[in-house]
Amino acid sequence: MDKKIIIAIDGPSSSGKSTLAKDMAGEIGYLYVDTGAMYRALTLYALRHGCMEKGSVDAGRLQGLLPGIRIEFRSGEKGKRDTYLNGENVEAEIRGMEVAEWVSPVAALPFVRHDLVAKQQAMGAGGGLVMDGRDIGTVVFPQAELKIFLTASAEIRAKRRWAELLAKGGTASYEEVLANVEERDRIDSSRAESPLRQAADALPLDNSTMSRSEQLSWLLEKYASVIRS
Ligand code: DC
Repeated sequence: MDKKIIIAIDGPSSSGKSTLAKDMAGEIGYLYVDTGAMYRALTLYALRHGCMEKGSVDAGRLQGLLPGIRIEFRSGEKGKRDTYLNGENVEAEIRGMEVAEWVSPVAALPFVRHDLVAKQQAMGAGGGLVMDGRDIGTVVFPQAELKIFLTASAEIRAKRRWAELLAKGGTASYEEVLANVEERDRIDSSRAESPLRQAADALPLDNSTMSRSEQLSWLLEKYASVIRS
């Protein structure tokens, strides 16, 4: 039987990491873990519990609430994995603009990162997993056998995100979505605690002009060469 490896996919917002990670996990029978969903669910909890005021996060209050936050993934329809917050399916709510606007400052808090990174490491302990995020190849699994750094221009990423929001009934303008994508890039790359950066041994992939199946074929090829080695 093939050895079970860890595939880490990092990159900026809306670069298509989760689509590629999901396609790949389905193709090779691996578990898929969307770490952005974990930061989003924690942000939703903070919003619901009055941790955001006057444009900033009340970190002390959020830290005190941390032990009461349970985030899990459960299988839904058609093999879809939904995010649950303390037993409630929050998959739709965590994709909205309010969570998107607050998630980067929450994800920059060191105690938040320590808590979620430990949970992510526990999930991957046995291998056989595709995990996407910002720091998977650098911090969560620096020993991952296959690391990808996925990018596309900010305009292309904003167009994808905007189309996704409209399809879900959202009303934000393209300009608002582009501003949010650029602002998240800025915060995610400049934060002190595990900023978004490409691991030295990650393979870069710019998917601006690639189809979904082209990206999957590219990754399957890289996977095959790691498995053979
Ligand atoms: O991938 P996403 O857009 O769903 O991620 C939401 C936010 O969470 C993003 O602004 C950065 C943060 N994040 C992070 O800091 N580290 C991760 N491993 C995953 C996401």
